[in-house]
Amino acid sequence: MVKHRESRPGQKAAGGLGAKPRRDMPGKPPAKPAHASRLAKPSRDHGERVNEQRDAATASAAPERPLIVRCGERPTERVPVILESLGAGDFHLIDSGNGLKLEQYGPYRIVRPEAQALWPPSLASHVWDNADAIFTGDTDEDGMGRWRFPREALGETWPLQLLGVDFLGRFTAFRHVGVFPEQIVHWAWMKEQVEAAKRPLKVLNLFGYTGVASLVAAAAGAEVTHVDASKKAIGWARENQALGRMEKLPIRWICEDAMKFILREERRGNKYDIILTDPPKFGRGPNGEVWHLFEHLPLMLDICREILSPKALGLVLTAYSIRASFYSIHELMRETMRGAGGVVESGELVIREAGLDGRTPSRALSTSLFSRWVPK
Ligand SMILES: C[S@@+](CC[C@H](N)C(=O)[O-])C[C@H]1O[C@@H](n2cnc3c(N)ncnc32)[C@H](O)[C@@H]1O
Repeated sequence: MVKHRESRPGQKAAGGLGAKPRRDMPGKPPAKPAHASRLAKPSRDHGERVNEQRDAATASAAPERPLIVRCGERPTERVPVILESLGAGDFHLIDSGNGLKLEQYGPYRIVRPEAQALWPPSLASHVWDNADAIFTGDTDEDGMGRWRFPREALGETWPLQLLGVDFLGRFTAFRHVGVFPEQIVHWAWMKEQVEAAKRPLKVLNLFGYTGVASLVAAAAGAEVTHVDASKKAIGWARENQALGRMEKLPIRWICEDAMKFILREERRGNKYDIILTDPPKFGRGPNGEVWHLFEHLPLMLDICREILSPKALGLVLTAYSIRASFYSIHELMRETMRGAGGVVESGELVIREAGLDGRTPSRALSTSLFSRWVPK
């Protein structure tokens, strides 16, 4: 994808999940930007301080509002929930081990770093050595690196399909290939909701990346709003739409800072039936707006709650690479959804190894945390 550090970068997030609620109501501007006090704190090293100063200049431009003080019961809970995928469409995880994973993406077998794979691989080394593409480089999540093609030189992109939707795989400099396949479980759930609803649902896909979830929702019959800060990612999403000849489907592609967008939707009173939000740990809006998961997540969920329609079917949050238990986002979700009834279910998204044939379940690879509010 996109050659920038926004997708799943490894930078350190400042602060904690502790944005304090204010007793005033939304709409009233906060006394000072929420970042102001944090920015005054001494930082650990010069690099971080420079970053914080730069962030101060850009972040203060982002409009903010205080958190709403929620009353009522917290939704009941269902924990731990492990949403497991054995692959779908053109994807399955073949094997993993020694800090690597071997995946099947359509015609290609791909080797990428995977810090969670602490165990030895199951398959013989010649199977791994015979992969079509191997990513080598920074072992950090989202570190830069290079692709090596041991068998023959491959083009930059190739066609793939998941849940009936066509899209392009692409060898990017940040090891990603245009889809985070552990999300299939959320997308399959969303597809079911959209198909079962007897009305056109409105779906908001925040941090939507290459648009696979947006296309799945639209193909199932939803009206979709897709928001991402990266022009390249939006361009890729539109390419995917054209590839599947889905241009006529109702999708609004919006290149904007996710927070800015939802704040405006809240002011305008626009509502959505399903919201998917998959924020990176750190990212930037098109005008340099700063996104820090640990600082901004409480407000993001708070606003998402306000723009859920009265008959909403779900608010789905995925969080990657954060040093937190799923309980951190679970309890935040329950506080945010106080008084809304329903259930909050949280846990992990895992992918199960499926072997060379894609049908032989073996070990589970943990990929991310999630928390999902549903009305029942
Ligand atoms: C983790 S990826 C999302 C993956 C996607 N949901 C999927 O599963 O295919 C993160 C995306 O967030 C976008 N992003 C980063 N900062 C942003 C911001 N401030 N506002 C909107 N999008 C942002 C990046 O451009 C990137 O496409």
